[in-house]
Amino acid sequence: MADLYQFRTAPEEPLDCVYFLHAAGKDPIENIVFDAKEKRALHAKIKGLAPRGEEGELISGECPLDTAHRVTFVGLGKESSLTHGKLRDVLRAVMRQATKNREYQIGLAVSARVPGLSPAESRLFALREASVADYTFDTFKSKKNEFDKIDGLHIFPLVKETEEELETRLNSVRLLRTSVQLARDLTNRPGNDLTPEALAGAAREMSEDLSGLRVTILGKKELIKEKMGGLLAVSQGSIEEPRMIVLEHRPKKPKRSVVLVGKGVTFDSGGISLKPSKDMGDMKSDMAGGATVIGIMRAVAELELPIKVVGLVPTVENMPSGTATRPGDIITISNGKTVEVDNTDAEGRLILADALHYATRFNPDIIIDFATLTGACVVALGHEAAGIMGNDPELQATLSSIGETVGERVWSLPNYDEYLSYLASDWADMKNAGGRWGGAVTAGVFLKQFVPEKASWAHIDIAGVGFLEKDHNGLPKGGTGFGVVLATTFLQGLLK
Ligand code: BES
Ligand code: MN
Ligand code: ZN
Repeated sequence: MADLYQFRTAPEEPLDCVYFLHAAGKDPIENIVFDAKEKRALHAKIKGLAPRGEEGELISGECPLDTAHRVTFVGLGKESSLTHGKLRDVLRAVMRQATKNREYQIGLAVSARVPGLSPAESRLFALREASVADYTFDTFKSKKNEFDKIDGLHIFPLVKETEEELETRLNSVRLLRTSVQLARDLTNRPGNDLTPEALAGAAREMSEDLSGLRVTILGKKELIKEKMGGLLAVSQGSIEEPRMIVLEHRPKKPKRSVVLVGKGVTFDSGGISLKPSKDMGDMKSDMAGGATVIGIMRAVAELELPIKVVGLVPTVENMPSGTATRPGDIITISNGKTVEVDNTDAEGRLILADALHYATRFNPDIIIDFATLTGACVVALGHEAAGIMGNDPELQATLSSIGETVGERVWSLPNYDEYLSYLASDWADMKNAGGRWGGAVTAGVFLKQFVPEKASWAHIDIAGVGFLEKDHNGLPKGGTGFGVVLATTFLQGLLK
């Protein structure tokens, strides 16, 4: 992906093109730093090309400044109806056009605001999205994607920003970009490549690149010792052995203690309760929650946050075979509770149960789990928001509000005690599936039974947003890295 630069003085070589993203009826260079002479020249150009700022509009011409060869005015439509998705979409269109025109060094000037966001929040969002707008996954393509040809993205400062502010912002964007890219890449890797062992290897490799991140991988033997019946039961139909990935960021004198848990099913066939074959291949992404947690841990370590943060990723492959768990089997989770496996396709909650119980030893104040847990959540919310539930309304509200700002939205699901009856089993402490109705909620209620008592907990079901079957809202088909920015922003907020 293109590297990000701030841009103030004339570059050694003129940029190939500068893109001005502007709303309808607004001056395209409003708020952007230029001197009086440059402004005059640009305004004359604007008069000639007469961009109207309408959605989808892309008007190019020669650049009247020495700074660049060309300019392109990109319409955003009415500012009052600008959305996160629309802005992302436009940024991707910019990258596509730049690629097509063989522009290797491009400038980006964005002064528009997303309604509901402050200018600084809008600016940060635009920068962050620009930095991942050329993301593609072509590891397995002989012919690499064209997007890779853009080498530099130069950001024009706004009047209100000091050089220092912009540099700080660029640094945080660079770092989040790397983490989001890591999460997306992991999510997109197919099941034969990204096995539980490979996911653990990727987590280890990431940690070795960074100081201050301790990685421990529990293998099958250790899982047996810890009596992690959920992980062992789900993995027993596969030749791939289960793992529990433990990533620890332990600063001196930490202010808070947070555990993040991510579902790491590297492929979910459904097991003996086999899924239909249509779109089953997308279940390579059933470790998106784990990828998000690994991405967040990377950002946390790079930011050197003074918070103790532990990332837990239970990882397995869910396969049908002669050794697989059968519907009706009764298993024991590490906290001693027994579960009747009503449906082997409700596997995520079984491995998360072990991980949530394992969190107890880290004495967390807060636990957040990310999981592609239920199709029911996708039915309820589509691809526009993740579902969130938990035991602490304040934590939930904080995450919701951050989500609206950063463009990773989470929408609350209820958590009434009555739902527990849906999981009643005649033979064990509970069943792992609660039937068709309220499926996203009963999955969360199941998890709640394994959450350490004193912790504030939020469960985020990313089934509809962690992986997309096609380009949507300016996000590319495949893994999105949903949750990386949300959680990192949340953790940074804990320091205030
Ligand atoms: N990984 C799936 C959930 C999923 C479905 C994620 C579609 C992304 C897109 C999960 O393991 C699953 O199969 N859940 C079942 C639970 C049911 C058997 C209680 C579901 O949602 O159907
Ligand atoms: Mn499943
Ligand atoms: Zn699953």
